[in-house]
Amino acid sequence: MAEPLRRSPLDWTVHPPYLHAAYGSTAKRAPALALLPRPETLSEFTGPVFGSGHVGPLDHDLTKNAVSSGEPIGERIIVAGRVLDDAGRPVSNSLIEIWQANASGRYIHKLDQHDAPLDPNFSGGGRVLTNERGEYRFVSIRPGAYPWNNHSNAWRPAHIHFSLFGECFSSRLVTQMYFPGDPLLALDPILNGIPDERARQRLVAAHDLSITEAGYALGYRFDIVLCGSRMTPFENT
Ligand SMILES: [Fe+2]
Repeated sequence: MAEPLRRSPLDWTVHPPYLHAAYGSTAKRAPALALLPRPETLSEFTGPVFGSGHVGPLDHDLTKNAVSSGEPIGERIIVAGRVLDDAGRPVSNSLIEIWQANASGRYIHKLDQHDAPLDPNFSGGGRVLTNERGEYRFVSIRPGAYPWNNHSNAWRPAHIHFSLFGECFSSRLVTQMYFPGDPLLALDPILNGIPDERARQRLVAAHDLSITEAGYALGYRFDIVLCGSRMTPFENT
């Protein structure tokens, strides 16, 4: 059995602080007291393990996995990449879950009251397992920007939420993927809570013609590193 991923202490020049004044909700969520170290036990490195039995054949394709009366509205996209450890080795058989707004910038959630239409053929949720080379691939609809109440006239850039379990709970990563060239990136308090510009850029996918399918969908590459000095920044929630 391969040595399990072990996450080294987080580099706070790369990851966002728990309290980031420009992102108002962190004032309620950030710990008010110093964190206590918690001993790691074997269970954090050995479980849970999600296998192919947990993922259906259409779970990776958000343009098909919630269809009720027709195809979802919007621009089709393909998001693909690799999941790696700090040495560049592929992390295989790893569960990736995503969730996102629809093309109009609306989530199916009772708390989302944005005045934009829901899409009856799009749930915004998907999941997939990485293959033996650490590769994954989603088909989806490009999400729309949406307003939020963080500050006056605040809009989130288009983004896709990612949750990765890696090999086990100890390598869990929750983050967001953004799209290149989005003018809202420079204005977003969540992305800009990451203190390092190069680290912020790790969350911006790259347009990739080798992933793009002719006549069907633009492709974006988003590689994810689960630990070490090149670790993909987590989101501040
Ligand atoms: Fe979101």
